[in-house]
Amino acid sequence: MLKKKSGYVVAILGATGAVGKETLEILEGRRFPLASLRLFASKRSAGEVMSCQGKEWKVEELTTESSFTGVDFAFISATDAISREYGQRLGAAGVVVIDDSGVFRMEADVPLVVPEVNAHALTAMPRGIVSIPNCTTTPLVMALKPLQDAVGVKRVVVTTFQSVSGTGAAAMDELMTQTKDLMSFRDTKANVYPYQIAFNLLPHIGSFNDGGDCSEEVKIARETRKILETPALRVTATTVRVPVLRCHSEAINVELGRPLKPNEARALLAAMPGVIVYDDPAKKLYPMPLDATGKDEVYIGRVREDESITNGLNLWVVSDNLRKGAALNAVQIAEYVVRG
Ligand SMILES: NC(=O)c1ccc[n+]([C@@H]2O[C@H](COP(=O)([O-])OP(=O)(O)OC[C@H]3O[C@@H](n4cnc5c(N)ncnc54)[C@H](OP(=O)(O)O)[C@@H]3O)[C@@H](O)[C@H]2O)c1
Repeated sequence: MLKKKSGYVVAILGATGAVGKETLEILEGRRFPLASLRLFASKRSAGEVMSCQGKEWKVEELTTESSFTGVDFAFISATDAISREYGQRLGAAGVVVIDDSGVFRMEADVPLVVPEVNAHALTAMPRGIVSIPNCTTTPLVMALKPLQDAVGVKRVVVTTFQSVSGTGAAAMDELMTQTKDLMSFRDTKANVYPYQIAFNLLPHIGSFNDGGDCSEEVKIARETRKILETPALRVTATTVRVPVLRCHSEAINVELGRPLKPNEARALLAAMPGVIVYDDPAKKLYPMPLDATGKDEVYIGRVREDESITNGLNLWVVSDNLRKGAALNAVQIAEYVVRG
């Protein structure tokens, strides 16, 4: 249990990355009660200065000798190895660890939390660690939760269209560099992805298992069941990387437990905290990555009946993977812990 204070000492491991930078912006924008900040990254970034809440903070190199005495919260958004090593260590030392990686998500004694959906899971954090979901699972469960509560959800088929920022800062640079090269009739190289991502798309995120599923597809199914507390829910996913800088989009097909008209579904979704229904086909209004970039909400449109199955519903969901898909969700969890 964290002692109530007027300000908390917050460490960010991976502060210079795509998620880390966004975490700083969100701590500032939401006026998180900060006493001080400790920013950690690799040797490459040590000494860089970043600003938050009107002050400048110097980036420290993360080493096994780094001291975390006095730290209340640690946001870990670096690599799996760093989550594994520092998540355990800091959680055991009494720091509230909010981890962005997939390392702890499916462990039974680590809550996996989207506050609007399952904040109650935060009451038990035996290891001092809480995980945030994959950046595609978060908007998916935000869309499914009100439908599940109202009429039940029997099966989910989801296809994702994931931006390159989901892979991190280096992938954003790669898309920009490849685009500039190709527009200048120069050859281009792929380093982050196995193939050129500019003017292309890759039906492949993570690694393939023996059955041919990508690890991202497996994560979406498992994490959705854990967060919604529906171990028998049938979920199948196809995950696709697209040449978009920010925001993940998802085409979601849901088989509901009982009939629900699209208008009723829109009303349920619109009442869900953190969701905006943006859906007027007659006016060509539907969510798009460019519009959702930098926004906190999950946008839902194209709500329509799927007449090919009983009680079928189609949805189109777009959300900023660096905000609600990562940094915002993590800061919201810290706010819940602070409120007790
Ligand atoms: N991007 C997303 O949409 C998203 C969403 C949900 C969860 N996540 C998870 O969040 C984490 C970070 O993702 P990201 O997209 O922000 O990646 P990123 O842009 O590549 O940033 C990685 C960060 O980790 C630091 N780092 C790397 N190796 C290090 C080392 N050996 N020692 C210390 N620091 C090191 C980097 O520091 P330098 O700058 O010094 O290299 C940088 O600050 C990952 O676990 C990812 O799975 C990402």
